[in-house]
Amino acid sequence: MANTQFLTLNNGEKMPIIGIGTWQASDEEIETAIDQALEAGYRHIDTAPVYGNEQAIGRVLKRWLDAGKVKREELFIVTKLPPIANRPHEVEPTIKKSLADLQLDYVDMYLIHTPFTVFINEDGSFKVDEEGLMIPDVSTDHAATWLEMEKLVANGLTKSIGISNFSKEQVARLLKNCKIPPATNQIEHHVYLQQRDLVDFCKSKNVVITAYAPLGSKGIAKFNAGANLVRDLPDLMDIPEVKEMAASHGKTPAQVLLRWIIETGNVAIPKSTNPDRLKQNFNVFDFKLTEEEVAKLSALDKNIRVCDFAFFHGIERHPEFTFKNQYTN
Ligand SMILES: NC(=O)c1ccc[n+]([C@@H]2O[C@H](COP(=O)([O-])OP(=O)(O)OC[C@H]3O[C@@H](n4cnc5c(N)ncnc54)[C@H](OP(=O)(O)O)[C@@H]3O)[C@@H](O)[C@H]2O)c1
Repeated sequence: MANTQFLTLNNGEKMPIIGIGTWQASDEEIETAIDQALEAGYRHIDTAPVYGNEQAIGRVLKRWLDAGKVKREELFIVTKLPPIANRPHEVEPTIKKSLADLQLDYVDMYLIHTPFTVFINEDGSFKVDEEGLMIPDVSTDHAATWLEMEKLVANGLTKSIGISNFSKEQVARLLKNCKIPPATNQIEHHVYLQQRDLVDFCKSKNVVITAYAPLGSKGIAKFNAGANLVRDLPDLMDIPEVKEMAASHGKTPAQVLLRWIIETGNVAIPKSTNPDRLKQNFNVFDFKLTEEEVAKLSALDKNIRVCDFAFFHGIERHPEFTFKNQYTN
């Protein structure tokens, strides 16, 4: 398909290097945005049960597939095993619920959303202690859950399996305990949080990096505020070097940020529900940064994590939670 480029995964499957992220959008917004994204040429869609929009996305996919406007094999649909279901016996029923909501027979990639597990009450709310802190489910067993993930591939419910938010140590441990290696590790990755040690390790093991929050996740501000978190987050699109490069290429800062991710060999999944911006984010295949520009952007790392999961109040007590939280530690 025109203008889509792919990375070949360690199982031979091809993953489009730009996908559309779908976190934090209403059903109505996401239905319109996915329609516009498919029109613009996107074929890779990143979702998760946690985003609450699989049914809305499913409705658009069904319309496109039924109308013959796209073939199933042209799509690359990613969804995730949520932290509330990160247990071996929940893997199969959880993907089946996602598939029913997405109106698909299989997904292209199924990820363990987080390396940790949390409990919920019958009403779906998180189980918390008297202080309002989440009670971690410390029974998390990556190897046992992964065994069930591998069965999904054998049963044709997903083409590929992967992980998300896994640290280098967690990836290394999983690699020692698996038959099918993870195809991707979806992590926060942008010029201010490059996680080079983790990225280099994954690449050396043929685990593709999918960069989430590639534009700095501006929308997270509202989410953090809702969870009473005070954050002074950077605006990546306002970085002078990024703005300068954008001007010299006749492109936008967002396009420069995305180019840096794909030119360094990774996949990016920017979210937008704005018609112009989502087109802009896909329109990154007609220019190239110079080697000097890539090096300049690679030198900007500040180790600033935007999506620190502090909205899971108390999650740092889980033994598999490995993020260093610069705001509280
Ligand atoms: N695995 C995980 O734990 C995890 C965590 C976080 C995110 N994700 C995935 O990664 C995706 C992307 O991350 P994200 O949504 O947090 O952040 P992001 O893609 O870095 O940024 C999205 C924000 O930037 C704005 N934006 C998008 N394109 C823009 C442009 N060209 N110029 C200016 N502003 C622009 C969007 O607003 P508009 O919509 O108004 O354009 C939105 O507020 C998510 O949607 C989700 O699918 C995964």
